[in-house]
Amino acid sequence: MPQRASVGLALAVLFSSLADAASTPAQAQDGRHVYLNHCALCHGESGDGNGEAAARLATKPADLTTGRYKFRSTPSGAAPTDEDLLRLLTRGVRGTAMVPQAHLPAAELRAVAAYLKTLAPRLREPAPAPVPLPAAPTSTPEVVATGAKLFKDAGCVECHGEGGRGDGPSARKGMKDSRDLPIVPTDLTRRPFKRGSDPREAWKSIALGLDGTPMPSYADALEADQIWAVVLFLESLSTPDRRQPEDRLLPGEETLGDQIEREHSRKH
Ligand code: HEC
Ligand code: HEC
Repeated sequence: MPQRASVGLALAVLFSSLADAASTPAQAQDGRHVYLNHCALCHGESGDGNGEAAARLATKPADLTTGRYKFRSTPSGAAPTDEDLLRLLTRGVRGTAMVPQAHLPAAELRAVAAYLKTLAPRLREPAPAPVPLPAAPTSTPEVVATGAKLFKDAGCVECHGEGGRGDGPSARKGMKDSRDLPIVPTDLTRRPFKRGSDPREAWKSIALGLDGTPMPSYADALEADQIWAVVLFLESLSTPDRRQPEDRLLPGEETLGDQIEREHSRKH
């Protein structure tokens, strides 16, 4: 299986230079160039998600003109931070054709992140501060039991099912996202999630929601430590046989995304 690009180093380089990452019009101009070369094949020239490769993909490329982002560190409905954008580009979205773009030089990643902000009017406002992420408590049988109870009481089972396998009653009826595309609740026994396997990322998904999907934000319904209890319960559901290593391309959409990018770079 092909190796995923090493993201550790790329992230270190990017974040060390974030202080001067405030986007300038010139950067957005360069970013358009990067975008047309590396992103438009999936996301479309205008950013509407209808690039030429979109038809081959089960999980469709995001419509970047809505300004609604799934993977944020900011509250539901808010714009993502620059760090969120750079993290997304270097890590990709696991299990989808959005493979890491860490092969691009850091300056190009910053430029394309600046360009993304010009595609949607709601991204022109500065992003709010990230929601603070408290440290994880120690996982004990009591915390896991509290998490299991909350998982039922908070209604997660409606979509994700009693055992967390993504087969709750709403899932069986069929669900749509805000673009009216079919979407299935995640099988919570498997890793990585779209955001990766780090439990802190699951905390963010539950607290902040995935905008544009039926996955709501629980920031108002649950306390920060209750969300941690749910996350630790979810960790207990995922046995080693249901975890894929973080540094390998997954079969299916990730491998297809990688292949589409290779075909594209041979032609251009
Ligand atoms: C091979 C296809 C492909 C390429 C190339 C690609 N993407 Fe994506 N991208 C996707 C798919 C598929 C998703 C949807 C993932 C999901 O919704 O779970 C996505 C999602 C996104 C998102 C949405 C993130 C969110 O929080 O909702 C952004 C932003 C994005 N891509 C930017 C880019 C940029 C910038 C490039 C080029 C540097 C790029 N993509 C290249 C397929 C691609
Ligand atoms: C109304 C339906 C619904 C409810 C209720 C719901 N979810 Fe989800 N959840 C979804 C859908 C749909 C997705 C998949 C989104 C995607 O793939 O883009 C998802 C995704 C997730 C993810 C994966 C995020 C990632 O990075 O891939 C986690 C973790 C999660 N949900 C946990 C929970 C927990 C815990 C609760 C209850 C506190 C909950 N969900 C309630 C529909 C729901």
